[in-house]
Amino acid sequence: MKALVLSGGAGTRLRPFSYSMPKQLIPIVNKPVLEYALENIVALGVTEIAVIVGDWAPQIAEVLGDGSRFGARITYVHQERPLGLAHCVALARPFLGDDDFVMYLGDNMLPQGIGGIAEQFRTRRPDAQVVVSKVPDPRAFGVAELAPDGSVMALTEKPQQPRSDLALIGVYFFTAAIHRAVAAIDPSARGELEITDAIQWLVSHGFDVRAGEYDGYWKDTGQADDVLECNRRLLGELTARIDGEVDGTSEIIGPVVIEAGARVLRSRIVGPVVIGAGSVVEDSRIGPDVSIADDCVLRATQLADSIVMTGASITQVPGLHGSLIGRSASVGPSDHAQAHHRLVVGDHTRVEVAA
Ligand code: G1P
Repeated sequence: MKALVLSGGAGTRLRPFSYSMPKQLIPIVNKPVLEYALENIVALGVTEIAVIVGDWAPQIAEVLGDGSRFGARITYVHQERPLGLAHCVALARPFLGDDDFVMYLGDNMLPQGIGGIAEQFRTRRPDAQVVVSKVPDPRAFGVAELAPDGSVMALTEKPQQPRSDLALIGVYFFTAAIHRAVAAIDPSARGELEITDAIQWLVSHGFDVRAGEYDGYWKDTGQADDVLECNRRLLGELTARIDGEVDGTSEIIGPVVIEAGARVLRSRIVGPVVIGAGSVVEDSRIGPDVSIADDCVLRATQLADSIVMTGASITQVPGLHGSLIGRSASVGPSDHAQAHHRLVVGDHTRVEVAA
């Protein structure tokens, strides 16, 4: 089996981050979402992996490299415009040949792995197998209608009136049959070749298409709140480890990871919290549910339920929570004496101040 990881796409719902980095590189507990995907694939024993990349190709290649760090071999396939998930399958055809493959959307988090569902596919080996999960509002997803025996009767992409509460998770297992389907479908109303339409084509033409319900935690990290929820969830499994420096006046409570080279001075850290290498936390109260990446500075700040990305600094902010702070961003008091706010923020940035 081979793997196809989709990491093109614009990520418009994650603006402003997606202006400066691909959404698949957003860190969850200080590790890019895409790395979790790679680890799940390699855990299946799959080492031949194609990664579809768009405009962010250099950034993605910088993080994943040739795949050897994961024990895999990565082939990059460039998609010039986001023309749909089925278009990615067509682009990767020379790499895929007629082999079975798992297709994995690079913004989907499944921290418990995909071993169980891969085993289902390998055992029964239908022509295609989708993975579904019950969600409260399926309108944001592909939606599956299943027969009682678990075969797929119909798939609809983001329906206004969903006919079931089973959303398609971004992990699919395919045999070479999918290539016939991809070649047969037309672009959707939004101008994309939809994988849902290709799978629906298989269903309509009598192929065996199955669905496995995923019983683990799953999150499409398409929006800021999803990213934070996922971060909380993974922080919940943190094992305490202090390799950095903590001074005698600081208090560390609960599961806290302080990486080597990080320093905590005169602060109170309530886990789960992770503080990356080279970061400095002074006179602050941090936690719970905070991930601070490498080389950040936090001074006289109170911060909970947040992600702070590499090189950011936060100074004298007394009640910050539910926040995503981008790389090298700086949040702090004005240099001017007057009691006013000064903002230098990019497009689609969201700033919420205490009224
Ligand atoms: C894609 C698929 C959709 C699936 C979702 C899962 O949507 O088209 O069927 O439910 O991923 O993450 P997207 O998030 O790209 O809009």
